[in-house]
This record gives sequence, structure tokens and C-alpha cells, in this order.
Amino acid sequence: MNLSIELAPKNRHGLLLANPVMPASGTFGYGTEYCHLFDIQRLGAIVCKGTTLEPRDGNPQPRLVETASGVLNSIGLQNIGVNTLIKEKAPLWATWQVPVIVNIAGEAVSDYAQLARELDGVAGISAIEVNISCPNIKAGGAEFGTSPKAAAEVTAAVKQATSLPVLVKLTPNTSDIATVAVAVAEAGADAVSLINTFKGMAIDVTNRRPLLGNITGGLSGPAIKPVALYMVYEVAGAVQVPIIGCGGITAATDAIEFIMAGASAIQVGTASFANPRAPVDVLEGIEQFMEKEKIDSLADLIGVARRQ
Ligand SMILES: Cc1cc2nc3c(=O)[nH]c(=O)nc-3n(C[C@H](O)[C@H](O)[C@H](O)COP(=O)(O)O)c2cc1C
Repeated sequence: MNLSIELAPKNRHGLLLANPVMPASGTFGYGTEYCHLFDIQRLGAIVCKGTTLEPRDGNPQPRLVETASGVLNSIGLQNIGVNTLIKEKAPLWATWQVPVIVNIAGEAVSDYAQLARELDGVAGISAIEVNISCPNIKAGGAEFGTSPKAAAEVTAAVKQATSLPVLVKLTPNTSDIATVAVAVAEAGADAVSLINTFKGMAIDVTNRRPLLGNITGGLSGPAIKPVALYMVYEVAGAVQVPIIGCGGITAATDAIEFIMAGASAIQVGTASFANPRAPVDVLEGIEQFMEKEKIDSLADLIGVARRQ
């Protein structure tokens, strides 16, 4: 059975994954946190926590609230910063066989470009995922992802600053995600990942105050799956670059739906909080499905639900 997939066919390094399953940024730390729970080298790739130029403490607590079929988070990009990541995480990643994708975020186009420049050529880093979709920071973040022009500008700047494959992560908090996807693809994105979280909130009726310290947060988990799936379907009809589907994937059947809608690979996020083995369970479920359905190659599943 062939589950391998090339996510950056036009890039000179390429981004060849042994299988299409990876964790979603921010839900899997730096990979190391999950090593004792299962063999993370079995995954197609690892995507690390969103990384900024300087370390960040993130937003005030509470930062995570459970909702019906999902969670609201307002972590606010707490992270160790790019220098520590290069010094302390990348050398270990370089010993791994699974490729590591570094998720980056900034407040200005120049931040993204500088991050990409610093990560270029670092052993242990196989690709960059550009987060233009974080709803939980005051400046930058999702602002870039809501406008096709701004999204294209960030993408072009990152592409110019690095030879690594560049994935651009899109926000659902926009009126037309397909137009943004087309803009970033035209600006040179090797692939697009979608979706990030939906902006939302919850109120503590006893205290009469918002439950999150940041007032608003991002909704993720099974609650968003049908909308995420629809957006992947829409974007798959609009761009030629590979799509990484994300949003509420908990079980293998969810992942297969995204692949059938047009995703070449998928990310498992919130599901890892309830079941830390979720990514590998999803992988095994995909393998079982393909065996049962006598499908030899993952490529034969991609976008099948789109065909007449
Ligand atoms: C606690 C938490 C932290 C997250 N941090 C990031 C991040 O740093 N960068 C990013 O691009 N997405 C981040 N996300 C969004 C996820 O990567 C993913 O796009 C989203 O949660 C939808 O997938 P899911 O429903 O499977 O969780 C975060 C999500 C959660 C729940």
C-alpha cells in the first residue's frame, strides 16, 4: 500500500511524506512531548507550535474552555522564540526520520520574512507553515489571512526569504477563503493548509464575565468539521497546489472525508487532547480502510468525492 504524498512538487527540496497524517500546530508541542506515548516517527510529519521572533508568554489565563463538541482556546502564541527553537529543538529533529514543519507567526510582513530567513538551511527543519490565521493575538495573525492582498504579500515575502517548502495556513474567518487560497498560491505557496480556528467566546453566567482571559478565542474540534470540510472542498476547486485539511478530525473516517474532498494530507489537532494517540489511530484507520476497500495508493482517494 502506498500512502506517500509529495506536498511541495514544485519546490527544489520537495516535501515528501511517508503518509498524509500530521498533528496540527499548537496541539503537539515540539513533538518531543508525545515521544513516550507512541512512536511519532510513524507520522507523515510533525508540525510544531507557532513560533515568533521573540519568545512569548501568551495571553492571560484562563486560556482553554470546553464547549459542545469542541474547545475555545486563546493561548496567544506562547512559544520559546525562533532562536531557542533553532538552538534546542532543531538539533534533535535533525536525528529524526519524520520531517518537521515549523509554524511561524508575526505582527508584520517583515517578521515573517525574517523568521523564514533564520529557518532557511537549518538542519532538522523540512518546511515552514505560515500562520496568517491566528485569531488570538492583538496585531498581525489573522489580519493577514482575511485579505487576499495581505495574504499574498506575506507569502511572497516568505518565499523570497527561504528555499524551504512553504505551506500557508488559512483562516475560516473570512468571507471567501477560496479567493485567499488563490492569492497565496499565485504568490508562490507550495501548499495551503486549512483551517485554523473560528473566532468565538463563552460567558460565565454566575460571574457575568467572559470565561477566557482574552475575552475571545478560537473554536476547534468536531464542532467545526463540516465547515472545515466544505472549505477544503471549495479550495480544492480553486487551486492546483496540494491542500492539507484540518478542523475537527478525530477519527480515520473524518480524515478520509477530507481526502475525498481534495486534501492531499490532513492534520489532527484538538483530538489529541482527549486521545494523545489520535494521530496514529487516524493513520492506522486510513490503512485499514484502504486495505478493506482494496485501494493501493492514497493518490486514488484524493478528491474522489469531487468527480462526477
Ligand atoms: C490549543 C491550541 C493551540 C493552537 N495553536 C496554533 C498555533 O500556534 N499555530 C497555528 O497555526 N494553529 C494553532 N492552532 C490551530 C490548530 O492547529 C488547528 O488549525 C485548529 O485547532 C483546527 O483543528 P482541530 O479542530 O483538529 O483542532 C491551535 C489550536 C489549539 C486548540
